[in-house]
Amino acid sequence: MLKADWHSVPGWGATFDIFVPRKNKVLPVRQAPPRVLAFLEAFRTVNEELWLEMTESLKVLRDQKPDDIPRTRLLDLLIEDFEERGFFGAIEAQAGPGRRKEMHWHKDGATGLLHMGITLQGQRRLRLRAWTDEAWEQEVFMSAGHIYLSSPFLFEHQVTYREDPTVALMCRFGFLDEEQALWVNHLRGRNMFEARGDQKRWFSYGFLLVFPSWLVSFLRFFGFLLGSSQ
Ligand SMILES: [Fe+2]
Repeated sequence: MLKADWHSVPGWGATFDIFVPRKNKVLPVRQAPPRVLAFLEAFRTVNEELWLEMTESLKVLRDQKPDDIPRTRLLDLLIEDFEERGFFGAIEAQAGPGRRKEMHWHKDGATGLLHMGITLQGQRRLRLRAWTDEAWEQEVFMSAGHIYLSSPFLFEHQVTYREDPTVALMCRFGFLDEEQALWVNHLRGRNMFEARGDQKRWFSYGFLLVFPSWLVSFLRFFGFLLGSSQ
């Protein structure tokens, strides 16, 4: 599997230091190719009200218990990332593997608390499972043009690739501080679930998320989307 790390925030310039989940450290990463950058910035812009509402709600949570230091630290980290426009700011571009491969079940790091997966080529099976009162499992098939919005930090999932190579973009929180990112990476306690709780409420209104339709149609043309990649 070939991988590249990009950032998707126009204001961060040609290269910017962000936390790279697969390396577990802050590293300089290049700006995404122009059309990927345009797609993500347009996606942020057309859904601006939603991000503002999420940020305000996180602030309300924070202000309820200002003396709870770990809780405040977590909420400040998320609020800062929304305000710096770092959500979907870290992109892991994946290509491959070009053969059938069954990955292990896992949960992602905290940058996957808010995650958008964009499939540009190939097909892969994504299985999800969780336990509440009873076990829950679901499988979905991703192929070119499919986009999902999710929180793979919070539940187990597993991917199976086929012979046709997959090209996909995993867009996650672009955390700016390594110490903070490592601290939050395994934080799945009460505070995190409280922060997640509000996001879950919004995502239940999935129709509120608007994809710029002309840009989505570009996703079907992988060559065009990455045509000017560096
Ligand atoms: Fe994952």
